[in-house]
Amino acid sequence: MNAPLRLGVNIDHVATVRNARGSGYPDPVRAALMAADAGADGITAHLREDRRHITDADIERLSAELSIPLNLEMAATAEMLGIALRHRPHAACIVPERREERTTEGGLDAAGQFAVLAPMVAELSAAGIRVSLFIEPDAAQIDAALKLGAPVVELHTGRYCDLTGEAQTAELRRIADAAALAAKNGIEVHAGHGLTFDNVVPIAAIPQLRELNIGHFLIGEAIFDGLGPVVRRMRALMDEAR
Ligand code: PXP
Repeated sequence: MNAPLRLGVNIDHVATVRNARGSGYPDPVRAALMAADAGADGITAHLREDRRHITDADIERLSAELSIPLNLEMAATAEMLGIALRHRPHAACIVPERREERTTEGGLDAAGQFAVLAPMVAELSAAGIRVSLFIEPDAAQIDAALKLGAPVVELHTGRYCDLTGEAQTAELRRIADAAALAAKNGIEVHAGHGLTFDNVVPIAAIPQLRELNIGHFLIGEAIFDGLGPVVRRMRALMDEAR
């Protein structure tokens, strides 16, 4: 039996629907509390620089109302560092961010951005925030994460989710190899992006993984089946894979 795998539910897209009308609903904090009741181990929220979904007020309320850990996804900017230090979430996952992208496309270039990331990892860690770097499943990136002293990496599963057949199997192997390499070096390994009921099982079966962060699919599926049942089903699939 492998170590348990935590489920972090990303509630960004509840805020996307709310913001489409500039209304007060649906409320992402209500969704977070419901996900927690249904078995989520943590809540993930990405405060983007353009505030297209989660807002500063959402982060404030999540910080005050959640009884499970909050994982704040953030770009490596001075503004986001200040916000993280003010709210002190359980974890901060540093992600690459480009204004024109639809979602987080590709991982952080931890190697290329070493000089920007080093002081940020140090400051967040000194504040007691568990720092994670969202990277491609690549040995050079894991090496950089190690040199940066990041205790956690989150492996980008977007490419795996987009591929099919042999190419997908090869990408799965790349993720499994990266997870093994990171864990061997004492880094805790998470994964996420694009995961669904149909593609989660082979990822959840990777023994070194400790957490999956899943959002878009769960929120979309909740329209049909409700958030509680959808979170419970994802949890069950993850548990069966271990
Ligand atoms: N992990 C990270 C670092 C992300 O940026 C995202 C998307 O915001 C996710 C996980 C969740 O991806 P998805 O919404 O496709 O499940």
